[in-house]
Amino acid sequence: MSTVVVQALTKRFGTMAALEPTDLSIESGEFVVIVGPSGCGKSTLLRAIAGLDAPSDGRVLIGGRDVTALAPAERDVAMVFQSYALYPHLTVAENIAFPLRMAKRDRRDIAAKVAEIAALLELDTVLDRRPRALSGGQRQRVSIGRAMARDPAVLLLDEPLSNLDTSLRVRMRHELARLHQRLGTTMIYVTHDQIEAMTLANRIVVMAQGRVEQVGAPLDLYRAPATVRVAETIGSPAMNLLPVRIARAGAAGAAVMLPDGATCGVAAHVPAEAVGGAATLGLRPEHLRPDPQGPFGGEVELFERLGPLSFVHLGAGGGRIVAQLPADWHVALGETIRFAIDATKAQLFAADGAAYPRITP
Ligand SMILES: Nc1ncnc2c1ncn2[C@@H]1O[C@H](COP(=O)(O)OP(=O)(O)O)[C@@H](O)[C@H]1O
Ligand SMILES: [Mg+2]
Repeated sequence: MSTVVVQALTKRFGTMAALEPTDLSIESGEFVVIVGPSGCGKSTLLRAIAGLDAPSDGRVLIGGRDVTALAPAERDVAMVFQSYALYPHLTVAENIAFPLRMAKRDRRDIAAKVAEIAALLELDTVLDRRPRALSGGQRQRVSIGRAMARDPAVLLLDEPLSNLDTSLRVRMRHELARLHQRLGTTMIYVTHDQIEAMTLANRIVVMAQGRVEQVGAPLDLYRAPATVRVAETIGSPAMNLLPVRIARAGAAGAAVMLPDGATCGVAAHVPAEAVGGAATLGLRPEHLRPDPQGPFGGEVELFERLGPLSFVHLGAGGGRIVAQLPADWHVALGETIRFAIDATKAQLFAADGAAYPRITP
C-alpha cells in the first residue's frame, strides 16, 4: 500500500481541458471512489495516475516518490479495465501469470502466486480455461487477479463492473469490498454509479466537467453536498432541487420563497446582499414529512411501493418533488399532498451552485 498524491494535475486534448488543475491526496490503504457523469474526466485522471497518458501539467506522487516521468510498469500500480483486456489465447492461469512472466520471476514463485490468487478470487476450478469459456464475472475476476499478481502498492479500477448484469454487479461489489478489507491495498475506483461509490468508498471524489467538486466520506457528501452537482450525483432517488428566491436572511437562518409563493425556513448562513436573489433548495426525499400546512405540495403523479418504504412523485408548479413515505401509507393518483421539512435538514445553494454554510443546531 502507498499514498497517492496528485498536484495541479492537468490534461488537455488540443484546447479542450479534460482535467482542470486537480489536487488530491489519498491515504495509504484507502478505498477512494471517483464518481461523476460520463465524460467528466474520471478515466483521464486515473490514466494519468497509472502513467498510461502523460499529463499536460502537474505531478503524481506514489508512496512519496515523484513518478510523473516514469512508465506505468515502474510506478508500482496496476489497472483493471471495464473491458477486462484479457489475452484470449491464454488460459486463466497464464493470464494471471503474465505480468510475473514479463518481470522474469522464478517459475515456482509464479505458480505459488497464481494458486494464491486463484484461491482468493475463487478461480481454482477454471485455471485451464480460456477467457471465452468464462462468465462475465469470472472474466472480471481474472483481470483483477492479473492486476494483483505483482502485489501493486496501488490498484486502479476503471468502471470494472459496468459490463456485468445487475445481480452479478452487486455480488462483485461485495467481493471487492471483502478483497480490500483483506489486502488493505490502496484502491482508486472509478464509476458513474453512485451506489457503488456510496457502498465501497472510504472517501468519495465527485467530479464534474473536468473538476473535483467535493471530496469526503460518503455520508458527509450525502448530508451536506457542497454544490448542486454533488447533490445531483449522490443519492437515489436524487435530492429534490427546487428553484427559490431568498426572502429573508439573518443570524438565525434564512427563509426562501417557493415558485407558488409559500415560504420555508432554512438553517443556513446567507449574506444579506443575497436577499431577493435566486437560489436552489435541496431536499432529501426522506426528510419531507406529510403535513397539511406544509409549504411543499403537488398532485400525485406516481406512487412506488418498494416494500419497506414507498416513494411518491408530485407534480409541483412545473417541477417535481419526490418524497419518501412509510410503506403502509395510502395515496391516490391525482390527490394533492402537502409536506413540511425541518429547517436544519434542507441544503440551500447560491445561484453559482455552491452551498451556503449550514447553521448546525
Ligand atoms: N484521447 C482523447 N482525445 C481527445 N479527447 C479525449 C481523449 N480521451 C478523453 N477525451 C475527452 O476528455 C473528456 C473526459 O474523458 P474521460 O476522462 O474519458 O471521461 P469519463 O471517464 O469521466 O467518462 C471527454 O470529453 C472525452 O471526450
Ligand atoms: Mg471513463
